[in-house]
Amino acid sequence: ENAQRQELGSIHGIPLYSYFVEKWAQVDAFQARPDDLLISTYPKSGTTWISEIVDMIYNDGDEEKCKRDAIFNRVPFMEMSCPGLISGTEQLATLPSARIVKTHLPVQLLPVSFWEQDCKMIYVARNAKDVAVSYYHFYLMAKMHPDPGTWNEFLQTFMAGEVAYGSWYDHVKGWWEKKKDYRILFLFYEDMKEDPKRETEKVIKFLGKELKKEVVDKILHHTSFQEMKKNPTTNYEMMPTWAMDHSVSPFMRKGMSGDWKNFFTVAQNEIFDAHYEEQMKGSTFRCQM
Ligand code: PPS
Repeated sequence: ENAQRQELGSIHGIPLYSYFVEKWAQVDAFQARPDDLLISTYPKSGTTWISEIVDMIYNDGDEEKCKRDAIFNRVPFMEMSCPGLISGTEQLATLPSARIVKTHLPVQLLPVSFWEQDCKMIYVARNAKDVAVSYYHFYLMAKMHPDPGTWNEFLQTFMAGEVAYGSWYDHVKGWWEKKKDYRILFLFYEDMKEDPKRETEKVIKFLGKELKKEVVDKILHHTSFQEMKKNPTTNYEMMPTWAMDHSVSPFMRKGMSGDWKNFFTVAQNEIFDAHYEEQMKGSTFRCQM
């Protein structure tokens, strides 16, 4: 149980943790069920937040039921595999329907059964600059990552798509295109921050639920950043300490939009903007920075 940093492997050209690559066949063969709900995100885009919102909706706003287990057990991370731990696919196989499944896979790597079963999916996108900042801190605290180097070095790696899960630009563009043909609710972290009630109501509607105002209010309270930060079932402090060191940087770090302004220099921002425009050219995808 050592916390050795490891270089990334790759699967079909996408950089990925080598332990995940080793068990890729299990992921590829994953059998989705028609009533599975898939939560898909590029890392650090609000996965844990939307997962808790959905589990609260599934449990009619009963926070005690949601506290039955850590978020990573209630919403298993499908492609996760690590020696000594039960893998995401194994964990999912033991869960009764209706399952909530977490993935960070780019759209082209999603197991085909999700498309065949026409599962509902929720994708959350977060602006690339805040993702880069959040990912840098995650690389520092979660020891399965390679050493991120300095912030400037990490930013170059991120822009080059050489971080786990590859290019942010390709990820958001790929999922954005898929929503034309499949049941994908496409949300933005910035919209969720701006008006959590409006965005949560979109999720409730998408899931075909109707909830009383008091229940919606309870969900909003329970899934606020402050509540989730102090809740041991959502703040990742139930992860083994060899995997995540919250004293380096807490998983629930700042939970805000625009923190990039505290990290990007003027020069970094200019280079980033030019590169962004180049990468996103031709796509109708837009998000608030
Ligand atoms: S992971 O590891 O990819 O699954 O991480 P993920 O959950 O996608 O992203 C973690 C960031 O989301 C922030 N977060 C929240 N923001 C607002 N409200 C709530 N409730 C919330 N829960 C988690 C978390 O703080 C990380 O962002 P940063 O910017 O690092 O604070």
